[in-house]
Amino acid sequence: MLKLAVLVSGGGTNLQAIMDAIAGGTVTNAEIVTVISNNADAYALERAEKNGIDAVCISPKMYESRDEFNRALLQQLNSYQPDLVVLAGFLVVIPEMMIEEYRNRIINIHPSLIPSFCGKGYYGLKVHEGVLARGVKVTGATVHFVDEGTDTGPIILQKAVEVQQGDTPEVLQRRVMEQAEWLILPKAIDLIANSRVSVVDGHVRIEE
Ligand code: GAR
Repeated sequence: MLKLAVLVSGGGTNLQAIMDAIAGGTVTNAEIVTVISNNADAYALERAEKNGIDAVCISPKMYESRDEFNRALLQQLNSYQPDLVVLAGFLVVIPEMMIEEYRNRIINIHPSLIPSFCGKGYYGLKVHEGVLARGVKVTGATVHFVDEGTDTGPIILQKAVEVQQGDTPEVLQRRVMEQAEWLILPKAIDLIANSRVSVVDGHVRIEE
């Protein structure tokens, strides 16, 4: 059984999609052992508690320095000994020591087709604002392993979503979530939980 730690900052709809997929059997061999948020008000924490999952807030505000926060976050994570860390809308820069310790065991969902509209400054609604400002006709979402860069790690899954005329950032965000994020994040977890994902020369291979 793959032990998952899910890290969140906000509403937690991706967390919900993972919990639903586990309950519904589309994700097998995986269980969520903890949910960690950097934001005490994140609705994601409530979603976790409603499902009987240990949920805790580790906020930078609780610590004197970034370094102390980073160490506390890693310590909290390690106390659950997760096999896979899932960043489900976690809007915090991941400490390098965590990336080293969990090499190819941290995945992130990003709401665009990487390498478009990603990197520093592109998170949440800002991604969709960028898409609409550029006028691209297709966007989507990406699940990737996390490395030291911002949104640069090996890509596991992507799914395209149409941009429609008259879209607002909010409308587009919702469509990208419904048609892409909530599908490919659980799917990636299922693939990893069933040992079908490997990283070879920096690229992901999926066994059919
Ligand atoms: C999602 O759209 C996720 O892709 C995005 O934040 C949102 C969280 O929503 N993540 C990023 O932008 C990371 N760079 P949720 O809390 O409802 O899952």
